[in-house]
Amino acid sequence: MNKNLNPNKIAVIGAGGVGATTAYALMVQGIGSEIVLIDVNKDKAEGEAMDLRHGASFVNPVDIYAGDYSDLADAKLIIITAGAAQKPGETRLDLIKKNTGIFKNIVSSITEYNKDGILLVVTNPVDILTYLTYRLSNFPANRVIGSGTVLDSSRFRSLLSKNCGVAASNVHGYIIGEHGDSEVPVWSLTNIAGTPISQYCPICSKACGGDDLEQISSQVKNAAYEIIEKKGATFYAVALAVARIARSILRDENAVLTVSSLMESYYGIEDISLSLPTIINSNGIDRVLELPLSKKEEKAFKESAAHLKENFEQLEV
Ligand code: LAC
Repeated sequence: MNKNLNPNKIAVIGAGGVGATTAYALMVQGIGSEIVLIDVNKDKAEGEAMDLRHGASFVNPVDIYAGDYSDLADAKLIIITAGAAQKPGETRLDLIKKNTGIFKNIVSSITEYNKDGILLVVTNPVDILTYLTYRLSNFPANRVIGSGTVLDSSRFRSLLSKNCGVAASNVHGYIIGEHGDSEVPVWSLTNIAGTPISQYCPICSKACGGDDLEQISSQVKNAAYEIIEKKGATFYAVALAVARIARSILRDENAVLTVSSLMESYYGIEDISLSLPTIINSNGIDRVLELPLSKKEEKAFKESAAHLKENFEQLEV
């Protein structure tokens, strides 16, 4: 049972592009009634908080302010976005050393004040940092979540929606594994209007022949690289993904989201965090769904886990 937490309070650590946009997304959607922005650059946090607060009269009542770690003591949800972001040509795993060092300080600062909240890691490489946060915080696994491939699954659904001419809300599909180059599209369970996509294509009048579908997997995998080349960073869609996770926690929704979490012998995998469809509610992770993957998908998922474990082990944590 969470002691003395404010169930509607969220702390966002990192007031950069992702952190500030996450605070904006939370505010616009009325998720949380108190949001504290924390950043090593206090002016940045204060400037973002002021700019956001001036819009308060247009949205549901929310107290949004800049603070420091002592202000997150009663936060139900602590979102970590701080750290170096990918530069053009960099992979997410290239950030591992830089951001691991930052995270050691962040996690100890959090746990000094709050041992009962839910931690939501966004900083990349998100799977490695989610597992590191689990190890460093000594929080139970259900309260250490990574944004994982929630964003990738949304990219997958939105590209399929555009290709097939069907609203994204009627397209169901998951990207699992690493939020990164080894991610896995679960085509075998992808469905449109409840029809497995393998049976949908033959009855679809668009008759795209299905060739475009394989391109969609690589478009999802390479989306961040392309956006970073064009505009320098990504923050809108990832902020909306984070807000979606926060909503399921604060409103106890039991939504199925492909967050990154500690593998507890799912498909025989342990001691690393990566993404599977997971039921999210006010306890954080309620349960992970071990879906009936195809042999090819299960093999690729295990390879993704092995790739992440190999990278984590090099950290000698
Ligand atoms: C992206 C970043 C958040 O995929 O990893 O846009």
